[in-house]
Amino acid sequence: MNINILTFDTIDSTNTEALKQARLGAGEGLCIVARQQTAGRGRHGRTWVSEPDAGLYFSVVLRPKVETQFLPLITLMTGVAVHDTLQEFGIDADIKWVNDLHVDGRKICGILAETTETPKGLAVIVGIGINITGGNASVNERGDRAATSIAEQLSVPAEAAGGALSVPPAVAGGLTKPPSTSELAESLTKYLTYFYDILHSDDGPATIIDEWRKRSTYFSGKPVRVVVDKDIIEGITDGLEPNGALRIKRADGSVSIIQAGDVERLRAGAARHP
Ligand code: BTN
Repeated sequence: MNINILTFDTIDSTNTEALKQARLGAGEGLCIVARQQTAGRGRHGRTWVSEPDAGLYFSVVLRPKVETQFLPLITLMTGVAVHDTLQEFGIDADIKWVNDLHVDGRKICGILAETTETPKGLAVIVGIGINITGGNASVNERGDRAATSIAEQLSVPAEAAGGALSVPPAVAGGLTKPPSTSELAESLTKYLTYFYDILHSDDGPATIIDEWRKRSTYFSGKPVRVVVDKDIIEGITDGLEPNGALRIKRADGSVSIIQAGDVERLRAGAARHP
């Protein structure tokens, strides 16, 4: 993939712009990055609050050549790439199925993948929002501290983090300062390219699932609840299907296969299991 980064000071949404560019024929690898978004979008119609320079607001145009059944793996592949990007800056994140990255149970990154038909065929737009200083409040429907940021995890003093934080100074991972958006974007595009190539290789889908397994505590043995079409499914995670769908083993021993939905972690012992 040939990475070509287009940067904006202010934009409505980098995903909306990338969708527009893909429909106009943009090639694979076009990335849209903005310092702020005025209409940043999250999943399920939520808003992604995008204050200037408080996060990385990034979208890439992909034109995948994988079997349609494996398209959902693009979100998993992106989670793996974001995981390794954060690790490069001293942050050890967990990938929460299917498209969030968390640190200590709090969200540090959200991923929004959208597809569109274009004159050149199907395009997938992968939007990535990483909290650098601001903890994105939009993801916090319950009103608790559900979000965190790179700066908070590196415990940067408030002055160095642009006044956004008030946590005690400390050093984590040898870093005292969060990366700039361009440093983050450079690392992210490196890992996205790497894992996207893997997805397209022989045995690519199985390899991506295995890489995801190594980076996520949600792969197996995690008590979770998910709401699907008003049904509440509770149980213990039991691996992924070849297309990335989540298997949940229920108390009666049956396995539910979840293709999409918001998974909520349950306290240990909260889910009944044989
Ligand atoms: C979610 O967790 O609900 C997904 C959030 C995705 C946010 C990113 S920020 C860059 C890109 N542009 C958008 O409008 N949304 C995505």
